[in-house]
Amino acid sequence: MTHATIPFREGFPALRNQTYLSICDKMILHRQVRAEVETFLDALADASASRTQHETRVTACRERFAALVGARPEEIAVGRNVSDGINATIWAVDWREGDNVVLSLDLEHPNNAYPWLRLRERGVELRSIPARDGRLDYAALIGAMDDRTRVLTCASVSFAPGFRADLERLGQAAHRRDALLVVDGVQTAGILQHDLHAENVDVFVTSTSKGLLGLYGFGFQFVSARCLDRLRPAYLSRPAVASDNEDHSAMGSEAYRLQPDARRFEVGSYNLAGAYAADAAMALLAQLGAETVEARALDVAARLRTGMVELGLPDVAMPGPAEVSHLVTAGPLDAGGHGYSDTRWVTDLSAALAEARIAHTVRRGQLRFGTHAYNIDEDADRALDVMQTVRRAA
Ligand SMILES: Cc1ncc(COP(=O)(O)O)c(C=O)c1O
Repeated sequence: MTHATIPFREGFPALRNQTYLSICDKMILHRQVRAEVETFLDALADASASRTQHETRVTACRERFAALVGARPEEIAVGRNVSDGINATIWAVDWREGDNVVLSLDLEHPNNAYPWLRLRERGVELRSIPARDGRLDYAALIGAMDDRTRVLTCASVSFAPGFRADLERLGQAAHRRDALLVVDGVQTAGILQHDLHAENVDVFVTSTSKGLLGLYGFGFQFVSARCLDRLRPAYLSRPAVASDNEDHSAMGSEAYRLQPDARRFEVGSYNLAGAYAADAAMALLAQLGAETVEARALDVAARLRTGMVELGLPDVAMPGPAEVSHLVTAGPLDAGGHGYSDTRWVTDLSAALAEARIAHTVRRGQLRFGTHAYNIDEDADRALDVMQTVRRAA
C-alpha cells in the first residue's frame, strides 16, 4: 500500500468495515467533506453567516468544477442532477416540428431517456440507434443525423455495461450538422479526465452524488460558450438575471437582461450544503490531481477485470483501448434489471460479495463494480477471492 492515494483513502469511514467497489451507484463521504457540511449546518444553527457569505462556496465550486473539466467558470451553471441539467437543456432549445434527436435509448439511464421521449409530444422525432454489443454504434449514430438533427446525446460512460464514449468523434459529427452534443457525465465526473472543449462537448451535466464525492441533489451543467446564445432557458428567476446588485431580493428593471454566461441556467436559492460538500470534495481531488485519480481508478478496475476473465466468468465486458472506464461488469446484458439478475451465477456471486461486505450492484442483470482513487489493489483481490471461492464450490 504505497500509493500517494493512501492518506485520501484513510479519510473515508465507510472503508473501515467494507470494501467499496460501487462508486457507479453512489458516493461515500470523506470525513473532510462531512466536516464542511457540518460547518455549514453550525453556521445555520448559529445564524452566524449570511446567504451571500455562504455563496462564496458556490463560486468556488464553479471554479473547481470548471478546472476539472477544462472549462471556464462562466461556462458552469450550478444545478441539481442529471435530470435537472438535461431537462433544462431540452427546454432551452427552440424546437420546430420535424426536428430530431439522435441517441441510443438502449444504453441511456432513464434520466437521459424520459426527458427526450417527452419531446415526441412536440413533434420532435427520436432516432434511437440500437446498441451493438453494449456499445454505441458510431457509424449508425452519425449516419442517422441530418440537417434537422438538433441534438446528439449520450452518456460519457454508460451505467451498464460501462464503456466510455468517444465524445470527440460524436461531437465532431454533431457539429458538422450544426447539432449539439449533450452528455450525461455523471459516471465519469470526478474520476476520468475530461477536456470538454477538446472533446467537442456542448452541454455536460452531472450530479455530485457519484465520483464527485459530494451530496445528492447538487450538480453542474456545463454549457459551452460556443452554444450559449442558442439556448434560452425556460425558467427565469433572480440568479439568471444580470445585475450589479448582489442582493437576492433586489428587483431590477422589468427590462431585464439574462446573465452573460451559464448562470442564466441557475434557478432560485442554491443547495448550499451541496456546495460546501462539493467544494471540499473537489479540493481533495485537486490535491491528488486528476491524472492520479484516473490512473488509480483504472488500475484497480483493470486488475479486477483481468482477474474476472481469469476466473472464467462469462461475458466480462472487455473495452477496446478508447472505451476503457472504471466500471467492470460481467454477465449477460438485460437478463434481469435494476438490482436483480436472471442469471444464477450472477445472483450467487452477488450474494457472496454482499455477505463479505464488498459493495457492488446488479444493473441490467449484470454484476457491476466501479472504482475510484480510494481503491487499492487489495480491494480487487478481495472481490476476486470471494468470487473464486463461489466458483470453486459450484
Ligand atoms: C448514467 C447515469 N445517468 C443518470 C443517473 C442519475 O440521474 P440523476 O442525477 O438525475 O438522479 C445515473 C445514476 O444514478 C446514471 O448512472
